[in-house]
Amino acid sequence: DTAAPQIFKGLAGVPVDYTAISKVNPESNSLLYRGYPVQELAAQCTFEEVAYLLWHGELPNDAELAEFGEFERRHRGLDHQTKRIVDELPLEAHPMDVVRTAVSVIGASDPETPVDTPEANLDKAMRLFAKLPSIVAYDQRRRHGLEFVEPRDDLGYSANFLWQTFGEAPELAVVNAFDVSMILYAEHSFNASTFTARVIASTLSDLYSAVTGAIGALKGPLHGGANEAVMHAFAEIGPGEGGAERAVAWLDAALAEKRKIMGFGHRVYKNGDSRVPTMRDAMERMVEHYERPELLEVYVALEQAMGERKNIKPNLDYPAGPTYHLMGFDTPTFTPLFVASRVVGWTAHVMEQLASNALIRPLSVYNGVDERHVPAK
Ligand code: SDX
Repeated sequence: DTAAPQIFKGLAGVPVDYTAISKVNPESNSLLYRGYPVQELAAQCTFEEVAYLLWHGELPNDAELAEFGEFERRHRGLDHQTKRIVDELPLEAHPMDVVRTAVSVIGASDPETPVDTPEANLDKAMRLFAKLPSIVAYDQRRRHGLEFVEPRDDLGYSANFLWQTFGEAPELAVVNAFDVSMILYAEHSFNASTFTARVIASTLSDLYSAVTGAIGALKGPLHGGANEAVMHAFAEIGPGEGGAERAVAWLDAALAEKRKIMGFGHRVYKNGDSRVPTMRDAMERMVEHYERPELLEVYVALEQAMGERKNIKPNLDYPAGPTYHLMGFDTPTFTPLFVASRVVGWTAHVMEQLASNALIRPLSVYNGVDERHVPAK
């Protein structure tokens, strides 16, 4: 019989299309957004500038940035209908389910939904970019019995996001660390949630359907849900003195149970995730800012022990989770923060996929029962 065709499980290592949006290079452990190293963008740009770059392919000049900023401010806030739907959802609902539902509601109500011109899709993408902070911030507040906080036009994207979440003017150091996390989370080529968005866009479905599907993919702990899961591990290790010893004991027990250690490993980066040093610097600035050295002690001990025992390095979710915890975000809010950032990458890829106009439909190799026939009655 013919030789069994080779199966590429999980599409591991399989290039399935071109993209001009970002370049992930495991050999050089580097990541470029439209040709710019992500470390330079994190050090010198705001998330608004990086979002513009990912969508348009060029950094904005002053006039373009001012126009984009004005648009973003105009579309912040929560319309009555979306707020009403969020209020209908149980407080026990996972924040990722709330965000996914809110995006669906916005899509169901937008007359532009069926219009798939580049201009219409860019408009939808920018409106989602502007609205997600209100949705994520309100969802966290409603769980604490707190009212929605209206956006402030005098604050940039990240400062306003923190303002709407905590109801107080954020400190510059916190705004900067948050902005770095948004830049680092924004785009990463064909990761599972982005590829999901592309599959949906490849059928000529609409941008909101693609983002809704991508949110579903990102929720899983093997992907975006890992940043929340890192914090669950830190909580199991426990606070206070002696964290390093507890971290090692926790790890040995977890590995003995064959558990996946969240925040470690990566399908593409096998020598460490290019974004980790930049995010770790931001985390360490927050450890200083909030005077929580014991958190860094656990972080370092767990990373070192994971290196010694499994030779597996952290991915971006490992420093990102504790950083969001220090800032005061609830642990289940961490992955929605990832959504607020990655919506830029997802929508850039949706527009690129629509331009390439190629339905994504791989093959499968049948290994079920042989052909048979319904017995005559
Ligand atoms: C993100 O793709 C992207 O770019 C994603 C992302 C993005 O920006 O979009 O970078 C964001 O999702 C980062 C990854 C977050 N996920 C986690 O932190 C979850 C924990 N990580 C693992 O589940 C795992 O590392 C994956 C899923 C991330 C990658 O797994 P692979 O490439 O499929 O590798 P594998 O699972 O086959 O692991 C190879 C070996 C296995 O050992 P054996 O079964 O062969 O003995 O390494 C082991 C694995 O068990 N291993 C781990 C481990 N990661 C790999 N063992 C324990 N803990 C881990 N974290």
